[in-house]
Amino acid sequence: MDLQFIRLFSRFLFLCLLVSTLRLPHRIWANVSTEKEKTLAMIKPDGVAGNYSDVIKTAIFYSGFSITQEMLLELNEETVRSFYAEHATKSFFPSLVQYMSSGPVLIMVLEKVNAISDWRNLIGPTDANKAKVTHPNSIRAMCGLDLQRNCVHGSDSPQSAYREITFFFNKSSSGYVSRHDEL
Ligand SMILES: *[C@@H]1O[C@H](CO)[C@@H](O)[C@H](O)[C@H]1NC(C)=O
Ligand SMILES: *[C@@H]1O[C@H](CO)[C@@H](O)[C@H](O)[C@H]1NC(C)=O
Ligand SMILES: *[C@@H]1O[C@H](CO)[C@@H](O)[C@H](O)[C@H]1NC(C)=O
Repeated sequence: MDLQFIRLFSRFLFLCLLVSTLRLPHRIWANVSTEKEKTLAMIKPDGVAGNYSDVIKTAIFYSGFSITQEMLLELNEETVRSFYAEHATKSFFPSLVQYMSSGPVLIMVLEKVNAISDWRNLIGPTDANKAKVTHPNSIRAMCGLDLQRNCVHGSDSPQSAYREITFFFNKSSSGYVSRHDEL
């Protein structure tokens, strides 16, 4: 058997499931908001190294987002510390910094109506182990490993989205820090 083919085919099946489950509820709730919103999405080092960027971008497009900006870059420890500044006192902070600076990440600005919550629905719970049980069709269930190495990031509120987008795509305000819980 061709293992590569099986792997690609299972990713394709995963995508079909993902797209069909994501579309349904948002049709029903479609009139909650009609204004386009932006959110910051990031494919973390394990996601990029595991070659998940393409399948994730395909899921992004099929779910109706447009990618307005993107860049592949390797974060240095200083940048990670600043991005996750509100976690600085937590015990997991040193390993978070080490993990996030361990290889290239793909940073994207996604745009659509309800972009922030729709992206978070698509990626699933923060803890990838939990995601595999409760949200088996989510991106984190596909490529996340645990609570920290959870493959992707998404802004958790409009305030976080604004701060995170300007953090990476506007040098003049990259020192600005506000609260966000999402890892
Ligand atoms: C959809 O819009 C209508 C009219 O503005 C409103 O009455 C209704 O409550 C909205 N539905 C939801 C789920 O927000
Ligand atoms: C990712 O793709 C590159 C280039 O095709 C390949 O060398 C590498 O082994 C792949 N990594 C994984 C984890 O599949
Ligand atoms: C970048 O920062 C400048 C000055 O703070 C601001 O005027 C501009 O709108 C920002 N651009 C973006 C894309 O956020």
